[in-house]
Amino acid sequence: MTIKKICCIGAGYVGGPTMAVIAYKNPDIEVNIVDINADRIAAWNDEDLSNLPIYEPGLAEIVEKTRGKNLFFSTDINKAIDESEMIFISVNTPTKTYGKGKGMAADLKYVELCARNIAEVATTDKIVVEKSTLPVRTAQAIKSILHNTGNSVNFDVLSNPEFLAEGTAIQDLLSPDRVLIGGESEDAIESLAKVYGSWVDDDKILRTNVWSSELSKLTANAFLAQRISSINAISELCEKTEANVNEVARAIGMDSRIGSKFLNASIGFGGSCFQKDILNLVYIARSYNLHEVADYWEQVIVLNDHQKRRFSDHLIKTLYNTVSGKKIAMLGWAFKKDTNDTRESAAIYVADHLLSEQANVAVYDPKVEDFKVLNDLNYLNSRPEQENRELVSVHDNPYEALKDAHAVAIMTEWDEFKTYDWRSIYDNMKKPAFVFDGRNILDKSKMEEIGFEYYSIGQ
Ligand code: UDX
Ligand code: ADP
Repeated sequence: MTIKKICCIGAGYVGGPTMAVIAYKNPDIEVNIVDINADRIAAWNDEDLSNLPIYEPGLAEIVEKTRGKNLFFSTDINKAIDESEMIFISVNTPTKTYGKGKGMAADLKYVELCARNIAEVATTDKIVVEKSTLPVRTAQAIKSILHNTGNSVNFDVLSNPEFLAEGTAIQDLLSPDRVLIGGESEDAIESLAKVYGSWVDDDKILRTNVWSSELSKLTANAFLAQRISSINAISELCEKTEANVNEVARAIGMDSRIGSKFLNASIGFGGSCFQKDILNLVYIARSYNLHEVADYWEQVIVLNDHQKRRFSDHLIKTLYNTVSGKKIAMLGWAFKKDTNDTRESAAIYVADHLLSEQANVAVYDPKVEDFKVLNDLNYLNSRPEQENRELVSVHDNPYEALKDAHAVAIMTEWDEFKTYDWRSIYDNMKKPAFVFDGRNILDKSKMEEIGFEYYSIGQ
């Protein structure tokens, strides 16, 4: 079938950029992105493109070229469902915070609501594509809901996991390493392959069964996260042995079997996917009584939590075992550079630990909105919200955040941090002036030459 109309439920970090690129590359297909969040849809429709709800390099330019032509944002979910031949489900699937599987399993309530919504509204056959990251066998559950509650129309369910990374989403979508489509119906698979085929070579479009597709997504993220935990584990050993983790990463990365990417030691990985997907994998393995498999993958998370904790412990210990009443400037709040997404950002956990020691935390991030910083901390529920408000300040100007600080903690690898006038920052800080570089982005010898006490990861 040649698809003429697509609907995407969920206008978030996955749905927004993915549909923008599909619309851009398929001018003959009308793409409608719908969401229950009216504010988010209004932001996507804002004439001023700097107000789009998601910051992603290259996204605004593509939205500008497609919006109002063949890309539309709306809250009219039912209309978009009914008019489309293909429906993508791109809603959030956070880790459950209640009940069975709490803290481990993915909460599928939003996905299920979408499936019920589609079943209720659809009056013609639909291809339903799961785009959100989901546990293995979710397609089966969606199918069951659609077939048991629908209006006797035919639904084909496909799994088409997203591999884009935030900050490079547009590039990743325009030149994907591969596109994965899992399904049973060959016709449905080929309909979706044709949508991607307008810009992706056919040999990069993999067709698999639905379960392999679902499991591949979890496995890809688990392997990527595992590399970071592996190099972070070595970083701690480097700090004890005077080896340098950057040198070790370079040396091992030149082995073509290992490869050089994803070997940057850091304060620990964040983002909406890695932790959630590994917890999912662990949960699934345990549910099949595969305890060795579950324990193996769980260690990736254990090490990541340890990395965040030892960073803040080290900071406190270095500041003479107390940060109470001291101003600690945090540069960066996003979980990585070039995004305004803060989900599971290491900065949140480091700040929370410092606040428990009664530090005054001054935050600057080039793209994260002020309210998000406090929301992220309040969400942890570690102390009354009033206390967070008193201890935390969020700044629009980095030099203000850094003025009179006892220490700087670099949380995100934003390029602009490298270009700051570190000499004048030094002059305006309390002495001794400490820098804790959680991303290894500054030059140790230059920083020490200025007079800083400089600490980084694994050096
Ligand atoms: C990840 C996957 O890369 C992507 O394929 C999937 O679709 C979604 O999950 P994302 O979470 O957006 O993407 O970003 P990614 O670049 O993978 O970074 C995740 C975290 O790991 C960030 O906090 C980043 O700073 C950290 N990281 C990454 C490191 O600490 N060291 C590295 O070498 C690489
Ligand atoms: P992701 O990173 O997976 O894209 P986001 O949280 O950025 O996650 O986006 C998911 C979007 O899905 C949110 O904007 C949310 O409002 C939307 N959403 C969740 N449930 C529904 C639903 N039942 N119908 C429509 N939109 C939904």
